[in-house]
Amino acid sequence: MSHKSFEWQEQLCTEQRADTCRVVIFGASGDLAGRKLYPSLATLASRGLLAEGTKITGCARHPYSNEAFREHIAAGLGDMAADVREAFLNRLDYAQLDYGKPEDFVALASLLAEDAADRPVIFYLALPATLYPQVVRNLDACGLLKETTPGAKRRVVFEKPFGHDIASAEQLDRDLREHLEEHQIYRIDHYLGKETVQNIFLLRFANKIFEPIWNAEHIDSIQITVAETLGVEKRAGYFDQAGLLRDMFQNHALEMLSLVTMECPSVFSADAVRNEKVKLIESIRPLDFNDAVRAQYAGYGDEPGVAPGSRTETYAALRMFIDNWRWQGVPVYLRAGKKLGVRRTEIDIVFKPVPHSIFPGISRDNLQQDILHLHVQPLEGIGLTLQAKKAGPKLCMGALTLNYDYKEAGGEVLDAYARLLLDCQLGDQTLFIRSDVIAASWKLYQPLLDYWAQDTASTMPMYPQGSGGPGEADNLIERDGRHWTDVLVEH
Ligand code: BG6
Repeated sequence: MSHKSFEWQEQLCTEQRADTCRVVIFGASGDLAGRKLYPSLATLASRGLLAEGTKITGCARHPYSNEAFREHIAAGLGDMAADVREAFLNRLDYAQLDYGKPEDFVALASLLAEDAADRPVIFYLALPATLYPQVVRNLDACGLLKETTPGAKRRVVFEKPFGHDIASAEQLDRDLREHLEEHQIYRIDHYLGKETVQNIFLLRFANKIFEPIWNAEHIDSIQITVAETLGVEKRAGYFDQAGLLRDMFQNHALEMLSLVTMECPSVFSADAVRNEKVKLIESIRPLDFNDAVRAQYAGYGDEPGVAPGSRTETYAALRMFIDNWRWQGVPVYLRAGKKLGVRRTEIDIVFKPVPHSIFPGISRDNLQQDILHLHVQPLEGIGLTLQAKKAGPKLCMGALTLNYDYKEAGGEVLDAYARLLLDCQLGDQTLFIRSDVIAASWKLYQPLLDYWAQDTASTMPMYPQGSGGPGEADNLIERDGRHWTDVLVEH
């Protein structure tokens, strides 16, 4: 498809600029801040989406001067015009801070007191989750979380994991609620900031053609794949405790699934969207342990930081069912894993086959099922695989895939973090996770996590690095007479 087929309606482009605020990043010298947060803020600045007076204060234990810190951040910024880069770096400052020392937070409070009293402040906790309660307590103790005037918003952004199990998630929630109200809590799932994931809302709810067929009557099955080529890298300390199910299913995969299958919210607002999400997650049938596969990539046990004999899964595949009127009987197959042959995140909606073939010599089984592909990454776009005739005198039939890359539409695909950092400044929680969604998600996965944890006897399936994953995951879907829409190795 050509980009000429696109006609944007400028008057409908609702890109908003945030008011002047202060962004405080805890964990500013860390990997996430350097790789994602500062570059994303720089992108916002270069697009004119960061208000003139907005300042960004980095906090960490490391003793940086403002100058040295700016140099450290500058090294991680991508290409941008020299003057824009300079102007962005001038917004940055640094405050050395020990998360356990209340007096360091008092010093931070006096730094922030230089700002106008009604200026919003965003605290971004790019920190291990174990530090959350302590940091929030210290912020509260020096008055930094109080919304004293209508403009003085105080928002705190948390990265996952939101707990390790139901009990710890509930405890974390109680700890945060002692100091913050839900409207101040921004739980990030960066998948919600990805272009295609946001486009699910438009595809489903700004078009009429899909809704009549978006149900068990017409849809055969749904597949969600999150394949990574990277392994555990330097994060074994966290990952070996968490495992793939907690790391990718409890959040990213479930968020994508709920957007694809939830009912239409009454309005595109944070609470209306999240009400539908929670309703959907609560209607997922309790997981059948026979519908779950876990596996580990060969060599995982030798990665630095991995416990000897670790049975942590680096791959998981599940079959789920949603018990409601729309989706009764439609299986949802999910798979995610590390060290696979390709990096690909995709949601595939597989439609039912035609009831009968009218074409001589071509049986119903010869006709492939139509598939709507939502490409999340690395390609960001949509595709539709249809049956079509090859041009020519004969009736040669085959599958034709129409692909559309969102970048061709002329827009600039922003990093997910840029979008989420902007929304947070705008006070829009639609793409952030509400506490009841987290609770519903833990409720769904906890029995399987417990079952896997107590099963220390069965053999852990292994798969070679760079492969398409374990054969057990193929069996999971093939026993239903279906197959994965794609093998996860380079073609
Ligand atoms: C994170 C997980 O949430 O998402 C990582 O903790 C994973 O293990 C990452 O690698 C994948 O994100 P993306 O955007 O690269 O698909």
